[in-house]
Amino acid sequence: MITVRVPLGERSYDVLVGHGVRAGLASSLPAGARRAAVITQASIPLDCDPGIPCERLLIGDGEQHKTLETVEQLCRDFARMGLTRSDVVIGVGGGMVTDVAGFAAAVWHRGVAVVHVPTTLLGMVDAAIGGKTGVNLPALDGVGGKNLIGAFWQPRAVLCDLDALATLPPRELRCGRGEMAKYHFLTGDDLLALDVPERIARCIEIKAAVVATDEREGGRRALLNYGHTLAHALEIATGHEIAHGDAVAVGLVYAAHLAHHLGRIDADRVQQHYDVVRGVYELATDLPADVDAERLVQLMAGDKKVLSDGLTFVLDGAAGVEVVPGIDPTAASAVLASMAASGQQ
Ligand code: GLY
Repeated sequence: MITVRVPLGERSYDVLVGHGVRAGLASSLPAGARRAAVITQASIPLDCDPGIPCERLLIGDGEQHKTLETVEQLCRDFARMGLTRSDVVIGVGGGMVTDVAGFAAAVWHRGVAVVHVPTTLLGMVDAAIGGKTGVNLPALDGVGGKNLIGAFWQPRAVLCDLDALATLPPRELRCGRGEMAKYHFLTGDDLLALDVPERIARCIEIKAAVVATDEREGGRRALLNYGHTLAHALEIATGHEIAHGDAVAVGLVYAAHLAHHLGRIDADRVQQHYDVVRGVYELATDLPADVDAERLVQLMAGDKKVLSDGLTFVLDGAAGVEVVPGIDPTAASAVLASMAASGQQ
């Protein structure tokens, strides 16, 4: 078992990584907890025993269930169970489950302890770590969006049981692999020298170090969005048909090409992005054929004012990956066009 500490002062916690670590769930709970609400989904096969009286609360599968309505239902269940502020919520599932469980815990009695048991690779290396919790605001009169309602609420512990990965569907595994590929560029480390459990733990350590310096995303935490500007635009443009990991894969090589176009990195460094994304994580890097480049630029910009002031990207460069504002939309568009053209050759 590998233990990674997320160093956040009095909110510090351990992330345990290894096969079978869920067996240690009972000892990861807060000392005074007398009952637990285990939030999970019917489709999640992982059994967890908190070692105290508990109730398993099922939430629906899919983004359409990531809503305040689901949180309200959970709070009704907490009330029925008599869950007090000294008890504990346990989120067992992928990023959607841990985001919802974390948010329900953050608001119940103005905050009750939460422990996460992520069951997806994406959850282990990203979603369950760092305290971002929340739900979507469903679109109404054209207004709404993903994760618009939320709170920073750090878990008391995170148990990454690698047994959960054995039954993960290929699309889900690709989501996690896209995030892992991202971590290769956030430090100078040779992640390839590590075996898979060590690499997962190292990704968590990299995220923990970033979160420790910028818990509430005032600046540096945005580096964790490397490759995500185009990825989010692709997800919206394809109506989420493209898996998040596949979108991040394309987004990473796009960010490399854009950095090269702007003279920030050389062609070898662009090739390293392909080597990691395609060669190591076996993710495709071609832009989907049927998406319109101008629409992608508009989606990346978010609004018209951004188009006139320039776009902000997380880009590689001599000083490493950093947030770069003021990028001319014409450059963003030209790089997309050249990627699209090379994909069609
Ligand atoms: N997933 C990005 C973050 O936690 O900040």
